[in-house]
Amino acid sequence: MQIRLINITKRYRVTQEKTLVSLKRVNLDINEGDYLSLVGPSGSGKTTLLHTALGLLRPTEGDVFWNKLSLSHASDAEISAMRRRYFGIVFQEAQFVDDLTVADNIVLPLLINGIAVNSKRVYFKTLCEKLRIDHLVHLYPYQLSGGERKKVSIARALIHSPEILVADEPTANLDEKSAQEIYHIFQNLNQLGLTIVVATHDVRFREYCREAYSILDGEITGFSQFR
Ligand SMILES: Nc1ncnc2c1ncn2[C@@H]1O[C@H](COP(=O)(O)OP(=O)(O)OP(=O)(O)O)[C@@H](O)[C@H]1O
Ligand SMILES: [Mg+2]
Repeated sequence: MQIRLINITKRYRVTQEKTLVSLKRVNLDINEGDYLSLVGPSGSGKTTLLHTALGLLRPTEGDVFWNKLSLSHASDAEISAMRRRYFGIVFQEAQFVDDLTVADNIVLPLLINGIAVNSKRVYFKTLCEKLRIDHLVHLYPYQLSGGERKKVSIARALIHSPEILVADEPTANLDEKSAQEIYHIFQNLNQLGLTIVVATHDVRFREYCREAYSILDGEITGFSQFR
């Protein structure tokens, strides 16, 4: 799937007379097989941009296209059905179903997409080993550390083999070794054809991704291409 952000402006009304512009006329194309990172300081608009691209947030101006589908003309139901199927999402703050085990949380996207859990048993095991969370699967979400929550949410985002992985600060709260593991996992998945979009403060992603965009005050201010 190709994602196109066309002239996206997002304004928030803060008070009666004051608005805050969180994205300013942003244009961005995300093509199949891309691996791009959005790097910018806190408050620069990274999460707003990702949520807009995911159809979770409606822009004030501009439009988002998923292939030929204009999100401004699509219903919320249509958008969420497609989002569940095509995207894997790592939110900045992972949300889990608290009374399900970690394993059951990870396989939830399979149930939602009508994919037999059994058919993914081997992939589940591989993902948990690669992310080093296999010892955590019988725990409950409240028993996890911040870094462990991040890794579990990465497993959950990947289990249904999405076309596109959108990850908001995937290495926040992670120690150096775990962060390295994430870079390598993402790089391998991209080489296997997964499209990846990462929003991060972590400049080390520049070493692994193919294209990096700098974002500042809601505007894309720079672009570099690697490899
Ligand atoms: N619901 C909202 N209402 C009002 N302002 C908002 C809302 N969501 C975001 N903003 C503002 O939009 C700007 C961009 O926020 P955003 O969360 O996209 O930044 P970010 O780059 O993801 O930051 P961080 O690195 O801290 O996650 C910020 O100034 C923020 O305060
Ligand atoms: Mg953010």
